Amino acid sequence: MQVVIQPDAEAIASLVADEIERLLRQRPETVLGLATGSSPLAIYDELVRRYEAGRISFARSRAFMLDEYVGLPADHPERYRNVIEREIAGRVDFAPGAVQGPDGNAEDIPAACEQYEAAIAEAGGVDLQILGIGSDGHIAFNEPGSSLASRTRIKTLTSQTRRDNARFFDGDVDAVPHHCLTQGLATIMSARHLVLVATGAGKAEAVHHLVEGPVSAMWPATVMQHHPRATVLLDAAAASRL
Ligand code: GLP
Repeated sequence: MQVVIQPDAEAIASLVADEIERLLRQRPETVLGLATGSSPLAIYDELVRRYEAGRISFARSRAFMLDEYVGLPADHPERYRNVIEREIAGRVDFAPGAVQGPDGNAEDIPAACEQYEAAIAEAGGVDLQILGIGSDGHIAFNEPGSSLASRTRIKTLTSQTRRDNARFFDGDVDAVPHHCLTQGLATIMSARHLVLVATGAGKAEAVHHLVEGPVSAMWPATVMQHHPRATVLLDAAAASRL
């Protein structure tokens, strides 16, 4: 695992965008893995800048989202499909249908999860997966206790994650869904390059476990220690317990 400490989120974003630009130039069909949450936002802004400057195109690429809430109405602004559309997909030139996510409103949830795994496999797998980390060490929505061998499935959100994410729901924790669909840890580990970004002191404990702790389902991100190509980009505050 490569750990890189940068001054701020913009410097981190610039490095990640450099790598994505390199991949897209080398192979326009590159498959990206997109994360929600605030951590990747600076990366998305930088990618949009490069797209607008004519440096990169997503027209032949595809993207897969990590996770989705269960039960939010299709037009809810915090439905991850809508968040990704607003933050990146709708601001660049992805072809229609090129960005996919798990269907949190599917009638048959296990079937939807299987179909999602099949879609990722059919696309040839994810080349570069962007990841944030929850303060409890979750990646995507793989909460503590998640099987390290897990694939896309339904999960119950912990009360800490629901409290953390209440800020996206006008501070109303009761408005945060209780369930989600999420790529499993084994699904994420199948991506060819994992790029995790974390900033701020609130992530320092999770980052400490990620980098220095033993691999444990209680700190799900630690599974990344087994990945042959994992990059962790931090600011000084997030790295303060290393
Ligand atoms: C959510 C998402 C994760 C994300 C985490 C951290 O729970 N499902 O993918 O990494 O939040 O979010 P933030 O980057 O806003 O701290």
